Amino acid sequence: MKTIDMNNMKIIKVKNYEEMSQKAAKLVEAQVLVKRNSVLGLATGSTPEGMYQELAKKYRNDEVDFKDVVAFNLDEYYPISADNDQSYAHYMREHFFQHVNIQENNRNIPDGLNKDVQASCRAYDRALEAAGNVDLQILGIGTNGHIGFNEPDEHFAVGTHLVDLNEKTIQDNARFFEHIDEVPKQALSMGVGSIMHAKKIVLLASGKNKAEAIRAMVKGPVTPELPASILQMHQDITLIIDEEAASEL
Ligand code: F6R
Repeated sequence: MKTIDMNNMKIIKVKNYEEMSQKAAKLVEAQVLVKRNSVLGLATGSTPEGMYQELAKKYRNDEVDFKDVVAFNLDEYYPISADNDQSYAHYMREHFFQHVNIQENNRNIPDGLNKDVQASCRAYDRALEAAGNVDLQILGIGTNGHIGFNEPDEHFAVGTHLVDLNEKTIQDNARFFEHIDEVPKQALSMGVGSIMHAKKIVLLASGKNKAEAIRAMVKGPVTPELPASILQMHQDITLIIDEEAASEL
């Protein structure tokens, strides 16, 4: 493990996915030890699966207690029911919530079914604010540089909003579906503004397919065309990336 600083970002370079997952779980554990009622911002996708497994193990071993933790997920497909196997609500139950003791009313995920999108997005933002915003935000990164589902665009979105998924994202996420046509075309996502309000951010990346996005995020200009680049402006951002994801730095 090697730590370097680049463009205001602390970069922890680890060997592989396992080491990334263990290191990320340790940071979450430390956050919850320091502040029992931490607000955790959570991501889905392949990247944090190992971290959730490590956290579930820590919970079983009585090393961490999530009783007072509040969780806010970054995003959800739209429209989708929370019962659908492809929903992020389902992902969170499978990979994390059913293995730990985060109370049900402290688990927040954008509502994939609410027809009044504006109202449900505003309600999500208000809930986030009422909770005091995120203490520790876990992020993955898309191969196109998206964070949450903030896709490359002409401007940065502030609050929770409905997004048309980019062709690249649909292709990348097709691996979770039987056929690419089944990938939802839209999603609800926390805005870049809300993500930037988090007190601490930890971004995880593993694998060669993330190397170019990581390079552009760390070394490129800050631009909404590569949403993750705005993280250069955050005051407490740590990347935990494996050798392959770091290979273009
Ligand atoms: C998911 C999310 C996305 C993913 C990104 C990477 O909640 O916020 O930004 O982190 O698409 O996905 P994986 O980890 O599957 O490569």
